[in-house]
Amino acid sequence: MANDASAVSDAHSQAVSTDSLADPFTPPADSSLWRKNFLLGAATASYQIEGAVNEDCRLPSIWDTFSAIPGKVLAGDTGAVACDHYHRWEADIDMLASLGLEGYRLSIAWPRVMDTTGAPNRKGLDFYKRLLNRLKEKGITTFVTLYHWDLPQHLEDRGGWLNRDTAYRFVDYADLMSRELAGTVDAWATLNEPWCSAYLGYGNGHHAPGLADGRFATQAMHHLLLAHGLAIPVLRANDPASQKGIVANIGRGTPNSDSAADQRAAHLFEVQHNAWILDPLLKGAYPQELFELWPGTEPLVLDGDLQTISAPLDFLGINYYFRSNVASDGAHGFREVPLEGVERTQMGWEVYPDGLRDLLTGFNRTYRNLPPIYITENGMASDDKVIDGHIDDTQRISFLKRHLAAVDQAIKAGVDIRGYFLWSLMDNFEWAFGYERRFGVVHVDYSTQKRTVKRSAELVAKFLKERKAQV
Ligand code: FCB
Repeated sequence: MANDASAVSDAHSQAVSTDSLADPFTPPADSSLWRKNFLLGAATASYQIEGAVNEDCRLPSIWDTFSAIPGKVLAGDTGAVACDHYHRWEADIDMLASLGLEGYRLSIAWPRVMDTTGAPNRKGLDFYKRLLNRLKEKGITTFVTLYHWDLPQHLEDRGGWLNRDTAYRFVDYADLMSRELAGTVDAWATLNEPWCSAYLGYGNGHHAPGLADGRFATQAMHHLLLAHGLAIPVLRANDPASQKGIVANIGRGTPNSDSAADQRAAHLFEVQHNAWILDPLLKGAYPQELFELWPGTEPLVLDGDLQTISAPLDFLGINYYFRSNVASDGAHGFREVPLEGVERTQMGWEVYPDGLRDLLTGFNRTYRNLPPIYITENGMASDDKVIDGHIDDTQRISFLKRHLAAVDQAIKAGVDIRGYFLWSLMDNFEWAFGYERRFGVVHVDYSTQKRTVKRSAELVAKFLKERKAQV
């Protein structure tokens, strides 16, 4: 493990001026964040920023279909234009580089790069080639997610993730991408947040494709994880120099009281949020308690599937946002009991940095083969307003500082964490919440597409500049 934080902090502490520590973001002198090899970057996803949904033979995705249904997305918003990044990508990369961000996590839109027969769409591919080449020229480390929820609609029409065949189509896609883009990608992530794809997409209908059945959720999850496991050796063969992994969103469940029943409820919350994904990936088995919580939802699993799914990973991406306070709820296992008087974000999510630390240290105990971790998303939405050309997003600055402190604590407790991507580089289409929820460190005026750097981004940039200047 390469986390000798104390040695590093000693070396730089003289170099850090007391002046720099006075700002509300800069980590304290003893933070492992000062290590130059701790990657600090920003993340986005294709459907949330690109727009240009009908251009260059892009096919419709499940999010085009879903967001067109009245009532599914706040204010009827869709990703049709989003941040118009498909046309403004050069300026966006310049902006990323000007902030000194060292890493960029982006995703590829599957419907942009393949036609319905699986043949490559050259125009779509060229977009990502240009983008990744430019990032390389700028010296930015690239993390590329293959599937950040924009499934081609024609595959959904044949059952989507309920159809085992979709996993094989995903492998064709991963094969094409890794042959075409090898050498420009530092790290490949197969899937973003399978929990959301399976549970929100097929279990409760909050996300595309909008189906709602517990049995669908577990079967979709199985096919998603299978797609991941089948793709890993293909990515390794086509692009051996890059890292391969997957991104999971993890949830902290805390008990509403000390009672054994509430403690059990919190445990079950984490079983369905975390172990449902991490156990098959890292232990090669689904947690039995999941099917006690959701009886009758065992997916159809073929011989060898779990071995495929548990192929070794080079890294695990972790996305963390908030905790859920839960109480026992008889047959349903748990129910959320929102706490009063706690700090919340524009999403209503509780700000709870300790949850990130506690989950990371817990996983490090539970999974002996836990791969190196990158925090691939963390951030918050606030109702940011441009006032005299500036955005002073004080809550975000404090949020980021506190979560980076939690990451530092986990590193010091022995977890191998190698980087952190803030969500998000810029305000974007926040799925079922549309454009109202602003997660960016850069503000986007959707009527003019003007980008304005928020105070949080300025402070991250300032820190990165100081870190770089250290001897
Ligand atoms: C995550 C998603 C990401 C973004 C953030 C706020 O679940 O991966 O696209 O919407 O939430």
